[in-house]
Amino acid sequence: MKILFLDQSGKPGGAELCLIDIAKPYRDNCLVGLFADGDFKTLLEKNQIPVQVLTTQIIQVRKESSFAQGLASLEQLIPLLTKVVQTAREYDLIYANTQKALVVGAIASFLSGRPLVYHLHDILSPEHFSQTNRRIAVTAANRASLVIANSQASKAAFIEAGGRADITTVIYNGFDPQNYQTDKSIIHQTRQQLGLENKFVVGHFSRLAPWKGQHILIEALKQCPQQVTAILVGDALFGEQEYVQKLHQQIASLGLENRVKFLGFRSDIPQLMSACDLVAHTSTAAEPFGRVIVEAMLCGKPVIAAKAGGAIELVEHGINGFLSTPGKSQELAQMITTCLQEPEKTAMIANHAQTTASQRFDVKNINQQIAQQLLKKL
Ligand code: UDP
Ligand code: GLC
Repeated sequence: MKILFLDQSGKPGGAELCLIDIAKPYRDNCLVGLFADGDFKTLLEKNQIPVQVLTTQIIQVRKESSFAQGLASLEQLIPLLTKVVQTAREYDLIYANTQKALVVGAIASFLSGRPLVYHLHDILSPEHFSQTNRRIAVTAANRASLVIANSQASKAAFIEAGGRADITTVIYNGFDPQNYQTDKSIIHQTRQQLGLENKFVVGHFSRLAPWKGQHILIEALKQCPQQVTAILVGDALFGEQEYVQKLHQQIASLGLENRVKFLGFRSDIPQLMSACDLVAHTSTAAEPFGRVIVEAMLCGKPVIAAKAGGAIELVEHGINGFLSTPGKSQELAQMITTCLQEPEKTAMIANHAQTTASQRFDVKNINQQIAQQLLKKL
């Protein structure tokens, strides 16, 4: 099967990292078409996945776009569209991985006669997207032969927004458990290099963006015992510089400069996670899936996740992790403190999570599920 994957981003967000695992089995017979250049392209190349940047123009559509802005951006899309239609004719199927890719993919599917698959990585709710964006996404997605939702939560929001239930199936992100095994010596070395020996380290692994809620963890830290320290791993991928400034101001005003470290975007997530005592996920809006939650489990680390969206499907409170109310820093602080004070019970929960997550999210099974679905649509 020859697949043309489409993704609008040049940056490696969760949807893009997921696409690497999906495209890998097809690398001899696929092309990933990007609508922007960047580190994601390099990552695909490292994985020997054929990739091409299909446009030189940056497509300006924002989550809060109005209808008029939407139309104006359609104009910019025409050269890209022409290129995608031409390319699609050489492939059996178009696989759109992001919303702008979906819009382009839907038109290209119509013009080239190739079936369209849409991988839905978002919760199409008013909390995340404007009405115009939701309408465009649903209209385009309803033309697809198959919509793969990354969680039940994403599927439910899609249907609520007018999406077709009959073409939608849920497939979780897949992971290779082996990638999350780290030697004790490397863990020791990492903690030493970061100056984190004798600390209780809470890791936050996410791009820096208001809805990812790094500020909630900082607020919680102030209410935790002195040895609790946080590392914030990730960068402002989509221009959220103002939020980064605010985080620095918040840290200074709470006097937490010695207890929070910003590590920027890193590609050694398993090592860094393994060097933590706990991983916190603090999204203030419903998380569509939450790769970092599963990754923490695979590293054998206890995880506290914000109780909303896909996170609820991944975590059972007190069984394989902990769920805290989104935006409630006091509750989060209490949970962190309990994990610190009850290390044996917490470790048992983390070990259980590691075993179950290794099976439930095994990339081999997940890729098989995707392959079966795609074959049905050809
Ligand atoms: N990540 C990374 N480097 C960083 C921060 C995050 O590689 O510095 C990865 C992280 O391991 C995860 C992904 O980025 O696989 C983020 O995916 P998630 O689903 O948690 O959130 P998203 O950003 O896609 O909403
Ligand atoms: C998106 C979502 C995230 C999800 C990822 C992979 O980036 O924001 O929650 O884990 O896609 O499906």
